[in-house]
Amino acid sequence: MSDIQKKQPILMLAPLAGISDWPFRLRCQECGADELVTEMVSAMGLLQAPSDSRAYQHLLAFHERERNLTIQLFGHQPDIMAGAAARVSLLPQYKGIDLNFGCPAPKVTGSGSGSALMKNLARSEQIIRAVRKATAKPLSVKMRIGWDSNHINAVDFAKMCEAAGADSLCVHGRTRQQQYAGRADWGVIAQVKQAVSIPVIANGDVFTPQNAQVLLNQTGADGIAIGRGALGNPWLFGQIRQALRGETPTVPDAEEILKTALSHLQDMVTFKGERWALIEMRKHFAWYLKGSKGAAAMRAQINQTEDLTTLVSLLETHFKTLV
Ligand SMILES: Cc1cc2nc3c(=O)[nH]c(=O)nc-3n(C[C@H](O)[C@H](O)[C@H](O)COP(=O)(O)O)c2cc1C
Repeated sequence: MSDIQKKQPILMLAPLAGISDWPFRLRCQECGADELVTEMVSAMGLLQAPSDSRAYQHLLAFHERERNLTIQLFGHQPDIMAGAAARVSLLPQYKGIDLNFGCPAPKVTGSGSGSALMKNLARSEQIIRAVRKATAKPLSVKMRIGWDSNHINAVDFAKMCEAAGADSLCVHGRTRQQQYAGRADWGVIAQVKQAVSIPVIANGDVFTPQNAQVLLNQTGADGIAIGRGALGNPWLFGQIRQALRGETPTVPDAEEILKTALSHLQDMVTFKGERWALIEMRKHFAWYLKGSKGAAAMRAQINQTEDLTTLVSLLETHFKTLV
């Protein structure tokens, strides 16, 4: 969250495992996201993977046009987290380091990482202090509002993060128990904002420019992070900026959507090669197609297509008939 205090409110792409690789991040940046975050990267995996391995290269892959890119680390051991932070601090592509204290997945919480850390303030504090010592880069924490509805401890947790050396916070307004269901509680985010002096980014359930305006008004947050709302809709960032300026948000036409989907595909081919790009892009195309006439049939065809030329021509035909 490097430029966080320069430009308010910050519009950030939230970390999305399996989704926020550089081809997607670049689309979001081009459409107006101020800050980008990688998907979560295992601190242990990072330290153990040989730096010339394919896994390591893929985890840390970025594009030279990306700006304000933060890497998110997850883990539960202070020394491992600090070691990984020290290592990524040497990489100039990252402006900042974010610590994942929000992931609800059992395979992450089972080892005491992600949102499980919200139940363990002492361990969380050790991690933040250790990482703080290991890096001079801006350090942010991504947290939830608590473990479950009986343990909503976001305010205490946020104060601890600030005291331990975090430079900013991103608060997803759900408990771990909620995973991604129900509504995000923006009221608790507002309480966190009141309780700390460091910047607070509000997160959860922003799908429209209007959602963003209400969230900012209700919380007084310094910015918002958008996850699911950006899927197939990176234009949301620019639309929010327009709405905040009092302008009418521009809705992308079919031609614009096609252009963006094709650049996304092209970048994915560069990143992962044609075969994997075709597979990886299926979900993105489903999102880009969402709401357009004939989307279901087109999705089915795309999912069976195994060559790039056919795929491109299917997409062109689909979107050109919508113009
Ligand atoms: C598919 C998916 C993957 C996610 N991966 C991460 C992740 O790697 N790190 C993280 O901190 N949060 C992750 N999240 C949580 C999001 O960053 C965000 O907090 C959550 O989706 C709520 O925001 P939204 O309503 O704008 O989607 C993920 C969410 C989804 C749906």
